[in-house]
Amino acid sequence: MLERTLWHPVALAHAVGSQPMAANLLGEELALWRDAQGAAHAWDDRCPHRGARFSLGRVAGGELECPYHGWRFAPGGQCTAIPAMPDFKPGPRHCARTFEAREAYGMLWVRLAPPEGEARPIHDFPLFAAEAEPRLRKTTSGPYFVQASAPRIIENFLDMAHFGYVHEGWLGSRDHTAIPPYEVAPTPHGVRATGCLAWQPRSSIHAASGAEVEYTYEVTAPYMAVLTKQPEAGSTAIEGLWESIAMFVCPVTEETSVAWTRMAMNDFASPDARLIDFQDTIFGQDRPVLESQRPKRLPLDPAADLHSAADRISTAYRRHLRDAGIGFGVLR
Ligand code: FES
Ligand code: FE
Repeated sequence: MLERTLWHPVALAHAVGSQPMAANLLGEELALWRDAQGAAHAWDDRCPHRGARFSLGRVAGGELECPYHGWRFAPGGQCTAIPAMPDFKPGPRHCARTFEAREAYGMLWVRLAPPEGEARPIHDFPLFAAEAEPRLRKTTSGPYFVQASAPRIIENFLDMAHFGYVHEGWLGSRDHTAIPPYEVAPTPHGVRATGCLAWQPRSSIHAASGAEVEYTYEVTAPYMAVLTKQPEAGSTAIEGLWESIAMFVCPVTEETSVAWTRMAMNDFASPDARLIDFQDTIFGQDRPVLESQRPKRLPLDPAADLHSAADRISTAYRRHLRDAGIGFGVLR
């Protein structure tokens, strides 16, 4: 399964501490924890002794200790101690099942299986790194726990025609519902839409009045997308500088997900809480519709739903998932 060989976000990096925590990815149960060096780990949340949850355990001496019989495991997964048999030295078969974990863009990312062929980067958008482009402030919002499949969340993120209804007074208006034609093209790992124009009463916390905003949307991985836009004229606009918001989605089960947004904004004046509040409001407006959509899994058969020309980016996204062989969270 291709999606097991790709990186997926599983938690905000700062939420992973020395107390193990549980997370879920592509139907796998994970225990996330940090060792004494501060390195984050993602393991199968199941002790190989009697199957207890590692996420109920604790970190002791830089090792993960199972809550049931206290077996200890080193950061690489090797069992180092079995307290009931103090003189026994566990062999290489005594080890936990581990996955690859990495930190980037304020998140912890996990890959369940090694790539077949060319390895893909975590995300094709280095602008979101904390150290990239000092004129843009990086903030992360979420987690948003959603009873919707990951592809449904991405498709909604790419959809402009709902602004005037779901986000009326914020991202759109019922008086300006037309979506002018825009361009859609495939990219190596997704699709990109350019020249997307939307009339917005209040596209950011700085917008004083309504304006036509130009967006670029890009799907960078099956469950990730980025929008880029020019900051509001008259507020914080700098020639040539575009702001971005990424939607990072963790496919938890076929029909449930966790989402976060990563912002790169030309705004150093607002407190984090204000930027996050704005995203919380927008996502809160999307949630009931997302959770209402049927079928829960995104149908990839072109005949399954009706489409309009305003939906070109979403039909291109569905086609991409179909051609890439993505199977989780979709109906094929
Ligand atoms: Fe983990 Fe026994 S189940 S130590
Ligand atoms: Fe929305």
